[in-house]
Amino acid sequence: MELIKVKKGHEGNVAAVLFADEIKALARPVIGLATGSTPVRMYDYLIKRNQSGELDFSKVCSFNLDEYCGLPKVHPQSYYSFMQEHLFKYVNIDQRNVFFPNGNAVSLAEECSQYESMIQEAGGIDIQLLGIGHNGHIGFNEPSDIIAKETHVQVLADSTRTANARFFTSIEEVPTHAITMGIKTILNARKIMLLCCGEGKAEILKQALYGDVTPRVPASLLQLHPQLTVITDQNI
Ligand code: GLP
Repeated sequence: MELIKVKKGHEGNVAAVLFADEIKALARPVIGLATGSTPVRMYDYLIKRNQSGELDFSKVCSFNLDEYCGLPKVHPQSYYSFMQEHLFKYVNIDQRNVFFPNGNAVSLAEECSQYESMIQEAGGIDIQLLGIGHNGHIGFNEPSDIIAKETHVQVLADSTRTANARFFTSIEEVPTHAITMGIKTILNARKIMLLCCGEGKAEILKQALYGDVTPRVPASLLQLHPQLTVITDQNI
């Protein structure tokens, strides 16, 4: 693991430089992307680089980690809308190469296995970006006694729904379920970049990086990955 500690507010630039280098090094990059407040500054820098002509997205294929179940795709809080607003609509990515699990599929089980196959057909993910929830979740893999390996439907923890209620008008509006890549899907990425910034994540990050490897702290399973880069402004 490589741990990069940065000053508050600097993680976006540092992450964008490294992420852009990965994209530039590949002929047909397959990237895994994340939502949440954490990657927003990194996306801003990627947009700047794209608009200045330094970084080309035309050959990029992207798979997002997760999507809520039951929210219309165009709902302002769907992860599809989030990614359009924070990255895709400002860069020259081909929208046909932008993938999300469909949280409104008639058969969610079929959708999950199809998403898994699509990632494999694309050749697997070259670099996966991750944030971390206060309870240690990655994507929407919530703390559990078992490891959900592949893309699956996840019941959201109350604490996750409470945390994400800030984006909705009330907690009742926050979906109760989501589709998420599983732990194995995530660990199959050739490289992983975990971004952790903002208030109050030092303790969970410490547990994830140096504690027991356990599905009770899903991010701790990242310790098993040989090419993990962690960028944080937390004092750990
Ligand atoms: C959400 C997402 C995760 C994200 C996490 C942390 O629930 N599903 O992918 O990493 O929350 O979000 P934030 O960066 O806003 O703290």
